[in-house]
Amino acid sequence: MSDTNSSFQAPIGTHDVLGPESGQWESLIATFADFAYRYGFSLAITPMFEDVGVFNRGIGEHSEVAKKEMYVFADRGERVYALRPEGTASIVRAFVQHQPATPWKAWYVTPAFRYERPQAGRYRQHHQLGVEALGTEDPAIDVEVITLAWRFFEAIGLRSVRLLINSMGHDECRAAYLSILRHHLASDPSLLCDEHQKAWSHNPLRVLDCKKEPCIDVTSRGPMLPDHLCDDCREHFAAVLAGLTSLGVEAELNPRLVRGFDYYTRTTFEFVADALDGAQNAIGGGGRYDKLAEQLGGKPTGGIGFGSGIERLLLTRAAESDQPLDLINRTLDVFVVDTTGGDVATVLVDELRSAGVACDRAYDQRSMKSQMKVADKSGARLALLVGPQELLSGEVTIRDLRSDNFEQAQQKASRDDLVAAIANLLTK
Ligand code: HAM
Repeated sequence: MSDTNSSFQAPIGTHDVLGPESGQWESLIATFADFAYRYGFSLAITPMFEDVGVFNRGIGEHSEVAKKEMYVFADRGERVYALRPEGTASIVRAFVQHQPATPWKAWYVTPAFRYERPQAGRYRQHHQLGVEALGTEDPAIDVEVITLAWRFFEAIGLRSVRLLINSMGHDECRAAYLSILRHHLASDPSLLCDEHQKAWSHNPLRVLDCKKEPCIDVTSRGPMLPDHLCDDCREHFAAVLAGLTSLGVEAELNPRLVRGFDYYTRTTFEFVADALDGAQNAIGGGGRYDKLAEQLGGKPTGGIGFGSGIERLLLTRAAESDQPLDLINRTLDVFVVDTTGGDVATVLVDELRSAGVACDRAYDQRSMKSQMKVADKSGARLALLVGPQELLSGEVTIRDLRSDNFEQAQQKASRDDLVAAIANLLTK
């Protein structure tokens, strides 16, 4: 919007998150942090923008995201940066820069920026929760990372989630597979969808990923990656699948799953929610990237991780249940109504907040009636009423805002015993 417009809106494809919805975000992030710590991951915070080369080299400059969707800009010193389109490349850049002891396990919560066509569940700024584990190729860490996501989705009450899994092999077995796939596609490219009739030879893996009928038809008659893995990659994949089975995590083998970034090797996976519309039903995805640290200038170091979109998690939750996610309580305990001029309220809320009680108050010296309306709307459990009478007697009236019985809803407490009385009522 230009400066001459009198009212601004959030940019297209972005959204504001305000209360009470933001309470659900807090629930998700706090629950994820809890899981991440339980699995041995610590929080990593990296800049929201990086040298554009981090992403071009990391996710691949020919990937759709790097080619068409990145927010690239030159700063005033003419350095070319990109807003982070995803979390992994930045985390691996930080790993290469700081060389922490391995295995290194980091979790993050971050906005990600992609210039996409906005629609339900697809934004230009979305937010991801994720983990990355670097420094081991042990299939046990693949199992651990996938299980963390699976159990987290369970913990936030999602029921329609399926885990799709594949192995992309490493450079050599994938190169051999690609030449067989190329050969298959070259036999009659006119059978492919309009886009891939022209673009198939550039990156044949994208044809496997294509959701259009003609491409699905041609590729379903062609070679599939898991049948062309070398012995090492086949054994690695078998160990990952066996590990998941032993933990009761159900994985569906999907040989078409190739994912959109160039850094993936071996294990790749996606979590889809059947409660969401097909085009935007991926609520998380990830995989192994054993060459990425080297591509960003570090020593050869295996790694694996996943990212999950907060917006899509909440859309799934809303599609599956009419109860909002409420894993941490963010409602007020107490609302102070003070008709004596406001000083009592100032002291009371300070005392209660210091004692750990969540409380708020009315401002602007409004009437009792109008303050009570605000108290009712606030969602607080108790109102504390202080009028001239209470001031004289050194007492405060406590009213239970959730009770319909006026007699029982009200009681007096002496000012000196107030904090203890409130604490007692709140535990009931
Ligand atoms: P990704 O599949 O591009 O992977 O994104 C991860 C998740 O972010 C998706 O499954 C989806 O839930 C959400 N997401 C992606 N784009 C959008 C969008 N435009 N609007 C709303 N939500 C979106 C990655 O970003 C990799 N870094 C994952 C990873 C971590 N691989 C290894 N480690």
